[in-house]
Amino acid sequence: MKTLVITIRELEEKDIPSCVEMTITSFPWTAYGLTAGQATKFFLERLSKQLVFVAENEGEVVGFIALKKNVLFANYIRRLVVSEKHRSLGIGSKLLTFVEELTLKEDHLPNVFLLTSTQNLRAITFYLRNNYQIIGKIKDFVDTGLDEYILWKSFGTINGLGKYH
Ligand SMILES: CC(C)(COP(=O)(O)OP(=O)(O)OC[C@H]1O[C@@H](n2cnc3c(N)ncnc32)[C@H](O)[C@@H]1OP(=O)(O)O)[C@@H](O)C(=O)NCCC(=O)NCCS
Repeated sequence: MKTLVITIRELEEKDIPSCVEMTITSFPWTAYGLTAGQATKFFLERLSKQLVFVAENEGEVVGFIALKKNVLFANYIRRLVVSEKHRSLGIGSKLLTFVEELTLKEDHLPNVFLLTSTQNLRAITFYLRNNYQIIGKIKDFVDTGLDEYILWKSFGTINGLGKYH
């Protein structure tokens, strides 16, 4: 099998159409009714802010991860998507590891967390395999009947990094 060479870098404007397409064709955004226009706005607002990183393979954008920084002494993963034909190749795990290292080494924060639909069983399996813990459930979060799990990964205490102030 050919080895995939994946580079992770910040989002550029030219990447937006691919990122939009992979988002609006993936569950749970299909269920949430996210439009291409709304998804495009999401990326445009985050350009050049070190908040969205893409995974690239031979010039093709095959996934992205979007962050909100410094929430509850953590970085919050707002969105993570890998294009459908590139799933189960380790790209999602690479994007997660990239953000975990950035959180600890550059932002000096000890936690990463995210929300995922309780119906998104594949994503839940993926996060549990990557050592995230389900720490709670928010009922009717996006809409009535659409619940979300809170998944959390901790690398240490706030005091351990001298961050409590
Ligand atoms: C969840 C997601 C980011 C994982 O990315 P990935 O590159 O497939 O992840 P990896 O290859 O590192 O890990 C794959 C593992 O995750 C799980 N998994 C998650 N989604 C899967 C899918 N669509 N197909 C198969 N396995 C999937 C499986 O446990 C899989 O293990 P396996 O390869 O041994 O079967 C990707 O499936 C995706 O973009 N899904 C749609 C969007 C989404 O649900 N995002 C998360 C919600 S915030």
